[in-house]
Amino acid sequence: MDKKVTVVGAGNVGATAAQRLAEKELCDVVLIDIIKGVPQGKALDLSEAAPIEKHDAHLIGANGYEPSADSDIVIITAGIPRKPGMSRDDLISTNAGIVKNVTREVARYSPDAVLIIVSNPLDAMCHVAFEASGFPKNRVMGMAGVLDSARFRAFIAMELNVSVENTHAFVLGGHGDTMVPLPRYSTVAGIPITELLSKDRIDALVDRTANGGAEIVKLLKTGSAYYAPASAAVEMAESILKDKKKILPCAAYLEGEYGIQGLFMGVPVKLGNNGIEEVIQIRLSEDEQAALNRSAAAVQELVGVLKKLQT
Ligand code: NAI
Ligand code: 2OP
Repeated sequence: MDKKVTVVGAGNVGATAAQRLAEKELCDVVLIDIIKGVPQGKALDLSEAAPIEKHDAHLIGANGYEPSADSDIVIITAGIPRKPGMSRDDLISTNAGIVKNVTREVARYSPDAVLIIVSNPLDAMCHVAFEASGFPKNRVMGMAGVLDSARFRAFIAMELNVSVENTHAFVLGGHGDTMVPLPRYSTVAGIPITELLSKDRIDALVDRTANGGAEIVKLLKTGSAYYAPASAAVEMAESILKDKKKILPCAAYLEGEYGIQGLFMGVPVKLGNNGIEEVIQIRLSEDEQAALNRSAAAVQELVGVLKKLQT
């Protein structure tokens, strides 16, 4: 393949993302993890599936970063996931150290890559990667909004018994309890769901979306969601690799957009070869803007925790 994507963290999200990237024949894949043998074993296993899945993507696993050199995209999933009773924010001190070290290595070997951060707490980890890489803001982004919007879409489709393909949804804000699903901008075949569902039902779907991660953690008991998260990261990677210029909700570094300064927040962006090519500004109602501001305050609080950890 003429494109190369490195996935750091060969656990549940990372290995599933590697599988989806290869099976869509988007790129060659380098899978990196600190555990000896695991990335090598998973890459070999996926390579042995290739004749059946009919793809020619090359996959290799490694414990060091040399094989990742000159990647077009690096997806960072390294870190610990949450267990029942934990919030995403409980992961901050462990994952900040991991994401910082990983990003330094990644930036050394792939100075022109676009970084897609997945590790939680997502918005705070974007700040860590942004600082550790020194990359421009268009080349550092976080995956959360595509996942949260996919969950909202799935719940809308279940509620109305329609194809998921007819659904569109936007979930903005931080990837946490304060995320901001936008029913006015969420549609079925172009019709806003506010025309199709009662306020009570919309509120229930919004609530389920905001707690979508916790719902899976409670069921799995030993970790968090990974099939949908991997799909979401790969949708972002595909838009960048193919320069599709899809508009997707991603965590982006804001400098005044939506009235937010110096913070990573989930907003609609255009993704192409250059990473984030534009932050799309949609008109928000007073209530929606207030919800986004509350979400920004929650992210700001986590960034404050990061600063304390550094001192
Ligand atoms: P996992 O535990 O299955 O995999 C994490 C992998 O990272 C492990 O294999 C571990 O060995 C590896 N790792 C740890 N330190 C490393 C280092 N220094 N260098 C390289 N690899 C290292 O966890 P899972 O389920 O894959 O989740 C990964 C992260 O993604 C978690 O922090 C989780 O909370 C987050 N996540 C975020 C989502 C989002 O929407 N942004 C959605 C799903 C998960
Ligand atoms: C999720 O939303 C754990 O952040 C992850 O599933």
